[in-house]
Amino acid sequence: MNPDYRPETKAVRGGADLEKKNGPLATPIYQTSTFEVTDNDQQLRVTPTDMFYSRYGNPTNTVVEKTIAQLEGTEAALVFSSGMNAITTSILALVKSGDHIVAQRDVYGGVTKFLSTWLPRLGVETTFVDTTEYTQYEQAIRPNTKLIHIESPTNPTLRVVDMERVAGIAKKHGLRTLMDATFGTPINQRPIEFGIDLVLHSGTKFFAGHSDVICGVAAGGKDLIDAIRSTRTTLGGNMDPHAAWLLLRGIKTLAVRVQRQNESALRVAEFLEQHPKVARVHYPLLAGHPQYDLAQRQMKGGGGMLSFEVQGTGDDARRLTEALRLFTLAPSLGGVESLVTIPALTSHAMISPEHRAQMGVTDQMVRLSVGVESAEDLVADLEQALRVVEAVPVSSRAR
Ligand SMILES: Cc1ncc(COP(=O)(O)O)c(C=O)c1O
Repeated sequence: MNPDYRPETKAVRGGADLEKKNGPLATPIYQTSTFEVTDNDQQLRVTPTDMFYSRYGNPTNTVVEKTIAQLEGTEAALVFSSGMNAITTSILALVKSGDHIVAQRDVYGGVTKFLSTWLPRLGVETTFVDTTEYTQYEQAIRPNTKLIHIESPTNPTLRVVDMERVAGIAKKHGLRTLMDATFGTPINQRPIEFGIDLVLHSGTKFFAGHSDVICGVAAGGKDLIDAIRSTRTTLGGNMDPHAAWLLLRGIKTLAVRVQRQNESALRVAEFLEQHPKVARVHYPLLAGHPQYDLAQRQMKGGGGMLSFEVQGTGDDARRLTEALRLFTLAPSLGGVESLVTIPALTSHAMISPEHRAQMGVTDQMVRLSVGVESAEDLVADLEQALRVVEAVPVSSRAR
């Protein structure tokens, strides 16, 4: 595979062997837990390969992993049974009791929970720092710090983190940087090019793209990936081959989906920004975004995710989300169907109200995942739903 091919080409052809002839064009699903050998010498030879036992590896998974490595520009990649599994397995591969982690304050709720309540049981402490206050990152580093974990753009506040700056701080102190890049996708940003060591994704979202599979992704240098692979084998988080095939199929259209989602989300953000019932819109490529210049430097598109705060109460936000017809009320994101959710009730419900307030996640915040429907229809849907909210008399609004 020519490394100079563009992402659109890599997404479709990345993991496949272009020289292959007389074989199936679509990658077969190796729906098998184990692989037969002719003798014990061969058994020993296949042990480190993807044709030994499917918890270790599987040929269908290998094709997806190669495609993802191509897209991220990394030496290697791994797939997992969920995004959380990718993140927890990767961190567990890199820390031991007595180690310390620095993480930005607004990372995905499940990761916050893992860092703040699970890792301490194993003797690993985390210091949370303000996401865009870089002096805090450096101040938080201790002699036993092993890694910095970041996420950009953030869920659901859409803050943009300066990858080069964080990677620079980490390198100065001999630390590894892990980044959850779920919202960005490799179509919009390639963290490796900014010095990040390990790129993580909930593959459930944009990568798979059809809201029909739960999976995770890690991409990075070969040594790092080998260490994480060994941990994945022990913890048992490899992906099922049928799910890997669904992921591969989804990735073939990643570039076209994301390009359209970029355009439609910007159109929706611009519409919401001028609407009198909307107090604030969070989207990286809106001119008023606090990290607009950084987003332009780091990202080729703003992505399909945005959030906004209604001019009103949490109940107004609830009414709005229930009045929408095209935006389906559901957690998750990144699929072809547009979704809406109130983060305080879903992705961030497990976080204390105080921590949520520090992150800027208000009760009035509504998060949109823009799908591939017509942008005009999506804007019209928001317009009619905002009208319903406006129709509710102020005196009858619950607080
Ligand atoms: C940014 C981000 N990271 C990680 C995860 C966890 O991924 P999964 O649900 O695939 O385990 C999510 C899930 O919503 C997410 O939004």
